[in-house]
Amino acid sequence: MPTTITIHAHDAIGVIRPELHGHFLEHLGTATYGGIWVGRDSTIPNIDGLRARAVEYLRTLAVPVLRWPGGCFADAYHWRDGIGPAERRPRTVNHTWGGSIEDNGFGTHEFMHLCSLIGAQPYLAANMGSGSPSELRDWVEYCNYPSGSTLADMRIGNGARDPFAVRYWGIGNESWACGGNMTAEEYAALYARFGTFVPSCGGTTPYLIAVGPNNNDTAWTRRFFTALSAERMFTPRIHGFAMHYYSWGTCAPTRYTPDALRTQFSSFEGMEHAIVEQRAYLDMFAERAGIPRIDLLVDEWGTWDVSEKEVEDEYGLFWQQNTIRDAAAAALGLNVFHRHADKLGMCNIAQVANVLQASLLTSGPACVRTPTYHALVLMKDHRNRTALRVESPLSPSRELSVSASRDDRTIVVTCVNPDPGSPRAIRLDIGDASISAVEGEEIADNDPNACNTFANPDRIVPHPVTPEVSGDTIAMTMAPLSIMHLRITVS
Ligand code: AHR
Repeated sequence: MPTTITIHAHDAIGVIRPELHGHFLEHLGTATYGGIWVGRDSTIPNIDGLRARAVEYLRTLAVPVLRWPGGCFADAYHWRDGIGPAERRPRTVNHTWGGSIEDNGFGTHEFMHLCSLIGAQPYLAANMGSGSPSELRDWVEYCNYPSGSTLADMRIGNGARDPFAVRYWGIGNESWACGGNMTAEEYAALYARFGTFVPSCGGTTPYLIAVGPNNNDTAWTRRFFTALSAERMFTPRIHGFAMHYYSWGTCAPTRYTPDALRTQFSSFEGMEHAIVEQRAYLDMFAERAGIPRIDLLVDEWGTWDVSEKEVEDEYGLFWQQNTIRDAAAAALGLNVFHRHADKLGMCNIAQVANVLQASLLTSGPACVRTPTYHALVLMKDHRNRTALRVESPLSPSRELSVSASRDDRTIVVTCVNPDPGSPRAIRLDIGDASISAVEGEEIADNDPNACNTFANPDRIVPHPVTPEVSGDTIAMTMAPLSIMHLRITVS
């Protein structure tokens, strides 16, 4: 007996900002060096040192925003090391991640070039942990001031006549841990100080992002905002508050049992709950401080499986194979964000290449699009559309996850059957909107540990499906552990 899911075509939640489909790139493992950046002298086809294949794939993915250079690395990074002629850049040690030598070949200009090639807005995470307010202010001026100051002219001399117009600035990262092991009060004091020195330049008004909680740590949120507003003449500027919420796993990526998979997926229930609860805190503090709104961000999210030493030795720290389970996890995450489109400002999956839930995996010249990549490409359709209320009797992390959005002519629906053991028959009811056409694609595989490897890079790709339409309902049976993405033309 199919379960009926009702899509309320006229009950709008809010517009799905493209930034909810954001990405993250860190100097960690082979995400940047060896992954995205191969260097100008590489035999691997490249565009000014950027892996050409990765650029092509990320352009197709239309990455809306890209956060860099960390993560934990951000709080150890000094931006001046990464500008100017490559041969004169210092060789530094990445003490944060394994002590590898950095030649700083990938710096601010290379990052901006990547962003412009793939059409992403840059998001710079600034060094609060070991940096200073003046280092941050100088980076902003270097990037955004048009010309005439020494720093702006230095940027021009380094090849960028036009300002980079960077809007998104993060003040530290995980300051409760790798970013300085601070208390919420200590972080609030430093945030107020650093934030004060971030200037508007060249018509770009900075959007300041504070370090939010680990998961749903409401004590961090409450204490941070209490300290931020206490005994100050003016409330410091704050536009976004960034939570980190990973989906921890108990198995290596290709060794998941059905039970381990269900446990990992249950984290999406926790994330949804955290979004609702954190949002309520932000609204309360914004109201008290007389700020119209503070956005909630999920700055880092994605699957984090048990790492395998031999795999890391070969491919780099936190390199994890990406399976059909990850495709489902990506869609579960985006479905949560769409359902709370009114509450969120940005969400960045970790990370774009070779680290954790990567969209691309590389090895030498090979560059593979993962199941996660394919799920994210399918779901691009939702961007800039209005998220719709969906009514379902099923549990979204265990039984069926759904999100829907619309513009004037089409309703887009993404369903995930997270159950690796059973198919799921459903009927989508879209009420009084009358259906004139439906097209769809499915991502599925009968092995829950199936993946795209360097030897078999296209095992998991979307396949077209034709669901049955009758009046205003669509009937379909979803395969175990699968994603179904539909575009419904309505009149
Ligand atoms: O994404 C990997 C790491 O996870 C990031 O550097 C850090 O912010 C988080 O703990």
